[in-house]
Parts: sequence; C-alpha cells; structure tokens
Amino acid sequence: MTISYGKSSLHAKFPFGYLGATSYCDETYDFISLPYSLRAKSILNFDFSINNENKEIYDKIVEYGRHLESDDIAPSHGIFLLGDVGIGKTHLCSTLFITALRFADNAKFVGQVELSRIIRSVNSFSGGSKKEYETCMECTVLMIDDLGYGVSSQSKELVQEHMFELMNARISDRKLTFMTTNLSFESLEEILGIPTIDRISEICQAMVITGKSFRKNGGRT
Ligand SMILES: Nc1ncnc2c1ncn2[C@@H]1O[C@H](COP(=O)(O)OP(=O)(O)OP(=O)(O)O)[C@@H](O)[C@H]1O
Ligand SMILES: [Mg+2]
Repeated sequence: MTISYGKSSLHAKFPFGYLGATSYCDETYDFISLPYSLRAKSILNFDFSINNENKEIYDKIVEYGRHLESDDIAPSHGIFLLGDVGIGKTHLCSTLFITALRFADNAKFVGQVELSRIIRSVNSFSGGSKKEYETCMECTVLMIDDLGYGVSSQSKELVQEHMFELMNARISDRKLTFMTTNLSFESLEEILGIPTIDRISEICQAMVITGKSFRKNGGRT
C-alpha cells in the first residue's frame, strides 16, 4: 500500500496488518495527523467480552473490517460510531480508519475541536488552515473524532456552514468517511444542523454502542 502526499510517497512498514496494529510507519501517521495514542490500536487489543450487549454491533464492525482488509475495492460507505463515553468508539473506529488506508492516496484524522479551529481560521490569513480544510474535503479517507463536540455558540453558525460544505464534498465524490461521537442524533442536529446530519447517513452506516466506560478503574474490568 502506498500513500502519496504531493511529491512524496510513503510506503507501509508491512503490506497491511490485521485491522491496524502498527501497520504503518510514524511518518505516515504524522502526515495524516493520527494521535500517538491511537497508532497501536487494533481489533487484537480490543476486549469484546466487555459491554457484551453490543455483540451484534461488534460482529458487524469486525465483518466490515475484514472486508476493508481483504476486498479489492473500497466500500461505498464508512462507519459512524455513536454511544456512551469511554466504551471504545475511537479505538474501534481508528482501527477501521487505519485498515482503510490501503485504499487511500491521502487521508486525515481530525477531532471536532481541531476541525472547528481549522474552520474558524479558514478565512483568515493562515494558508495552512485553508489547506487543512481542503484536505478534509478532498482526502480519500477521513476520520472525524468526537463529531459535534465543543462547538461554541459564537462559532456555531460558521461551523455549521462549513460542516455542511464538507459533508456535501465527501458525498459528491463518494469519499470514505469514519466518525465517532458520544452525542445523540438530536443533539447533533441541534449543533450541526439537520441537513448536515441527514447527509451523514448517505456516506456512513451509523452504529450505536452502549456500556460502562473502560477508563474507569484504569481500564481494568
Ligand atoms: N473493550 C475494550 N478493550 C480494550 N480497550 C478498550 C476497550 N474499550 C475502551 N478501551 C480503551 O479505553 C480507552 C477509551 O476508549 P475510547 O477513547 O475508544 O472511548 P470512546 O468511546 O471513544 O470515548 P469518548 O466518548 O469519551 O470519546 C482507550 O484507551 C481504549 O483503547
Ligand atoms: Mg472517543
């Protein structure tokens, strides 16, 4: 698998791993802004026995991941994971995102807080932010973590406008998009606007998982 960024071409450390699991070199992860804490996440280090009420959804996620890993063509939709805090949405979704990099010639990971910052400075003199925003619209594989989180009332209108534009761009080119949130659909509609949230269903399969936070008790069950 090769990810090209302008003139540079970065090769995977291994052809591709079993649903993520340190498949790429740090240089690639730096390019796509994947946080260090997510680089070693994989299906292999996710304990599916916790919050077992999600079994059916877990099975669907793993099946989707297996297709991502072995199919010749990219799937037509990404995954949108919703649900309670600390139950592994970002862990599972970034595993899928990493696996999907085999279809990517450019990719980006962005949290909503960072995306809102990029949007706020998109029209400023900062060319960097404009480029980052364009990458979010154009890249083959995008992951937005914590969708809708931390949007202030002052920037809500601006964020709504750009998130709408972003989703439209991703739909029109059928780009692969992954997302997580711990907000409900109702809250998301209030924060980002109904048309934007409606468009998400066109590019992502939404799945809701529930349970107790893994962060409690230092991650021990
Ligand atoms: N079932 C699990 N097995 C192993 N590790 C887990 C599991 N669930 C969560 N974790 C770990 O717990 C931490 C929190 O998980 P994660 O960040 O994915 O939760 P989240 O659902 O995205 O939470 P939030 O809604 O707060 O963003 C991470 O380090 C993750 O790897
Ligand atoms: Mg998360």
